[in-house]
Amino acid sequence: MELFYRVSFQEVVADALSLVEERELSSKHALERVFKRVAGRDRDKARGLAHAYVFEIEKWRAKIDFIINSVLKGSKVEDLDPYLANLLRIGTFEIHFRKVPPAIATDSIIRVVKERFDFSRAKFVNALMHSIEKFDVDKALKKLKERDRIEWLSIRFSHPRWYVEYAIELLGYDEAVRLLLSNNRPQRYYVRANLLKTDVDSLRDYLEENGVRTARTPVPDVLKVLDYKTPVTRLNWYREGKFVIQDLASAYVAHVLAPEPGERVLDLAAAPGSKTFHAAALMENRGEIVAVDYSYDRLMRMREKMKLLGIKNVKLVHADGQSFKDREKFDKIILDAPCSSSGTYRQFPEVKWRFNEEKIKRIISVQRNMLRNAYENLRDGGEMTYSTCSVRIDEDEENVLFAINRAGLELVPYDFSWGDRGFLEVGEKVFRAWTHRHDCNSFFIAKMRKG
Ligand SMILES: C[S@@+](CC[C@H](N)C(=O)[O-])C[C@H]1O[C@@H](n2cnc3c(N)ncnc32)[C@H](O)[C@@H]1O
Repeated sequence: MELFYRVSFQEVVADALSLVEERELSSKHALERVFKRVAGRDRDKARGLAHAYVFEIEKWRAKIDFIINSVLKGSKVEDLDPYLANLLRIGTFEIHFRKVPPAIATDSIIRVVKERFDFSRAKFVNALMHSIEKFDVDKALKKLKERDRIEWLSIRFSHPRWYVEYAIELLGYDEAVRLLLSNNRPQRYYVRANLLKTDVDSLRDYLEENGVRTARTPVPDVLKVLDYKTPVTRLNWYREGKFVIQDLASAYVAHVLAPEPGERVLDLAAAPGSKTFHAAALMENRGEIVAVDYSYDRLMRMREKMKLLGIKNVKLVHADGQSFKDREKFDKIILDAPCSSSGTYRQFPEVKWRFNEEKIKRIISVQRNMLRNAYENLRDGGEMTYSTCSVRIDEDEENVLFAINRAGLELVPYDFSWGDRGFLEVGEKVFRAWTHRHDCNSFFIAKMRKG
């Protein structure tokens, strides 16, 4: 492929993988950054392919690393220079997943190693690539299955071991495997009609006319995309802000909260804004939403999107949702807490590798501080939703129990129109969606009130 002077495709992908890992960027944002310095005739084609590479390598990383670690014998891929490790991942992915001829796959990464490192490292990588090419994955997996079935599931379906154990404990073995399989399937897209600019029937007709087949969903303003000729993001109505792409379960939150025109609403972790924007539309742009987030960059992106969607009643505030206070209390609060994102593996495979138990403990403490702060900000009788895109009980039901027992909130017995109920003693009064059962992100919602 002809790219900008001296930038090879493998280098671009390795750069993006490094940004995903080191700066914790999403694949999309990492590629946006990397492609800023790429030009040339094949730029768009390369970008599409690079996205597929980064996405698939992140998705299959446990299996790819299993192959590399097996030939490294003793040391681990994580012990290598991170950039070199990513080049090896690309080479392994090309040989074992894309069936690129091994000589071509090896040659492409050796060229980058020579340029970025030195000759001795190139020799080392060359030898490794030969072993990787000869490695019999099926045989090694069979052996692993006999030795350690959980580890086998974790490698075979490329999920963190803790997640596999957790899913089996929550759902039982067979259903946990269905969840793992489902997390590896292509993402399902949903579009939400922006009620400030159109309605769901007009949107459905428009999409149909433009070759996008959709189905209604249990969420009244959301359509499920069944198939399409042109990606929906290229359509005029998308550019004009008449609809947004939003996951089904995520778009249920604002309906559960049901903010009314004229109310004062606080969103304590608002960016990139899906739920704030949805609430603004349900409020018909009347009243006020104070949208708080810790990330300035993400808030700035929200500002751009608000213009496009015609949203006028949102005030953006760069602050810590654990301590933010306003002069007046709020009628309603959205707390869509930062979490382990363990319900979004199908959409963002890179998050699979970001959280360990220690990091999860830290995030649970943030969630609990935010719950306490939500209580402080609510008026008496005010209502809130607590939601996460996590499958974990300690981020979901246990936090609801914390909110009841330690923060003074009450659980509202809401009549959820779809989805499943949850776990523990609050299980019957909370909402859960699962990727394998509901074809969307695994998600949690509880509605609470300040008594
Ligand atoms: C799950 S995302 C929110 C998604 C958003 N509600 C939506 O629907 O688009 C969590 C957000 O919490 C923000 N965040 C993390 N720690 C925070 C804190 N201490 N205070 C405020 N926001 C925080 C992150 O920047 C991130 O934007």
